[in-house]
Amino acid sequence: MGRGKRVVSSNANVSWRAPAPAQPAYAVVLERAMKAHQAHDLDTAERLYGEVLELRAAQPDALHYLGVLMHQRDRSDEAVALINTSLKITPRHPDAHNNLGNIHKECGRLAEAEACYRRALECGPTHYNALCNLAFVLEVQERPDDAFEAYGELLRKAPTFAHGQYMMGLFLRNYAQNVEHIEQSIACFREAYRLDPRNLRALEGLGISLYTLGRHDEAREVYRDWLEREPHNPIPRHMLAATGGAETPPRADEAYVRNVFDSFADSFDEQLLKNLDYRAPEVLAEALGKVLPAANGSLDVLDAGCGTGLCAPLLRPHARTLVGVDLSGGMIEKARARGGYDELVVAELTAYLQAHPSAYDVVISADTLIYFGDLAPVLEAAHGALRQGGWLAFTLEVLEGEGDRYALSSSGRYQHTRDHTQAVVESAGFDRVTIGTDMLRKEHGKIVSGWVVLARRGGNDMR
Ligand SMILES: C[S@@+](CC[C@H](N)C(=O)[O-])C[C@H]1O[C@@H](n2cnc3c(N)ncnc32)[C@H](O)[C@@H]1O
Repeated sequence: MGRGKRVVSSNANVSWRAPAPAQPAYAVVLERAMKAHQAHDLDTAERLYGEVLELRAAQPDALHYLGVLMHQRDRSDEAVALINTSLKITPRHPDAHNNLGNIHKECGRLAEAEACYRRALECGPTHYNALCNLAFVLEVQERPDDAFEAYGELLRKAPTFAHGQYMMGLFLRNYAQNVEHIEQSIACFREAYRLDPRNLRALEGLGISLYTLGRHDEAREVYRDWLEREPHNPIPRHMLAATGGAETPPRADEAYVRNVFDSFADSFDEQLLKNLDYRAPEVLAEALGKVLPAANGSLDVLDAGCGTGLCAPLLRPHARTLVGVDLSGGMIEKARARGGYDELVVAELTAYLQAHPSAYDVVISADTLIYFGDLAPVLEAAHGALRQGGWLAFTLEVLEGEGDRYALSSSGRYQHTRDHTQAVVESAGFDRVTIGTDMLRKEHGKIVSGWVVLARRGGNDMR
């Protein structure tokens, strides 16, 4: 008997299976494209989606995912066109409607995003991500009643959806009308963390809600437990100090700043939507506009704590060179994508300023010195980094009351009194100090007031 043959006896327990139909060529390539996409290899994925579309024109999944990829490449108009084409072919595809909604949301087109999430839910009523996204865009459109209803429906239908519990916790705290809402937010954060212990932000939310209710000991307990489990995590360490459970550091630890802002950069679009009232860059640019020569591109300007680069378009007309410096690499990447800078540097601010004596005509710092308690070292360094006649402009959060004081608040940011601000700016060597007040942004639906400080390094006026 030849070796390659198989003999099956008549009573053997075998079943005949029809050979699996060969996958069409386009499907094989699509699978490879999706794998590359999931592995964040966008170049390979884009090329392979293109191959799928050559093999099978208007293949709807390739159009849909290529659209998602184009958005990741900041080519959002093409992304929308591709997903819309895909939806003409498969109009009842909840994921495609949801992803289209995400693109509109991240581009700030909230009404379009809302419509997409609603269509996703018509096509797939159990698409809990779409329901959570719908609740979120209702919230950022300042329709808290509608948002409350949507989050409520989400938790009724999917009580074990951890992200939904977390989002409801944030919503309840932000829009709390009474103590009960904060208590409910505590329950949501606890549940979110129980369901997904990787979500440490739920613990942070829990600590803040407890502190808001005056349950300071319990808040400190949350941070202490967290720190015990993760002794090297700078967030609970900082928050423990912010709730009075440890000594206040002179400024926020570098690891804390990096950690908070690298993850903030990831959720930047979402945060920006929630912070539509953020005005610090505009307020500072306006103040500087009154003392700087007419914008003629002649000044060397430092954006100190540049974050994602919101100050760049406002400063560019004045700047011969515009440099941004920030501790967070994630934020710097966002600033790079926004454009407008000649140089972007990942560095600690005080050290950077000390290393650049008499290098700048203007130093601007929007909402960054709120991570400094003791302002003396950074302001002395800023004085040294300015040329004679150069201007410093920065914002701080207001600490009400008299006296030369600063405090670390339960939000994790520092606040300074007017007296302290005046004294520390003057003793760093500045003259022509003015301190105004303005609304810098809203938090939990309430206005956050800030000091708007302008000060000059004495000497000849700038060119
Ligand atoms: C609230 S953001 C403001 C960003 C930007 N100026 C704006 O107005 O959009 C504060 C920024 O300060 C940065 N930062 C805080 N402490 C810093 C330090 N010691 N050195 C450098 N950057 C710091 C953070 O990484 C963050 O990007």
